[in-house]
Amino acid sequence: MTRIAIYPGSFDPPTRGHEDLVRRSLTLADQLIVAVARNSAKEPLFPVDERIAMLRAATGSDPRVRFEAFDGLLADFAKGVGATIVVRGLRAVSDFEYEFQMALMNRQLHPSLETVFLVPAVDLTYLSSSLVREVARHGGEVRPLVHPAVAEALARRFPRNAT
Ligand code: PNS
Repeated sequence: MTRIAIYPGSFDPPTRGHEDLVRRSLTLADQLIVAVARNSAKEPLFPVDERIAMLRAATGSDPRVRFEAFDGLLADFAKGVGATIVVRGLRAVSDFEYEFQMALMNRQLHPSLETVFLVPAVDLTYLSSSLVREVARHGGEVRPLVHPAVAEALARRFPRNAT
């Protein structure tokens, strides 16, 4: 049986933490679908196609990994692609409540879909897309936090000398 896992998120933009989770997810599944939410709650900084292009650049070309945009409920997307596992990263206690609620709601909607939480490398636990956006917006150095392709996209979006 082929085990298909989904790693869903906004990835706006992808960080080194997301790359780490993609690598770790491959220890659990035969195929991994990185599922990029087209319409996250807030207006995204990058359009979904650009987020997928950045993820591709950042995570390489492992044939077990594919990238898809999704709309609507994650549970419905999981049914459509035949996934049985959802991977989410847990960085700190502060992530837990939201993640716990989401896992239980997804179970309510799709009882055979199991949510698995993975912990990123310890030096990446403080990283989030929103902090990366904030640092980039104010002209800070993001290169240690993201793949060079992402750093370039952020530099285009927020030219250093612009206010
Ligand atoms: O990277 P994020 O923003 O934490 O990812 C959140 C995401 C996109 C995985 C989550 O909001 C989601 O699954 N959205 C789709 C709608 C849905 O199914 N929500 C959860 C059950 S209510």
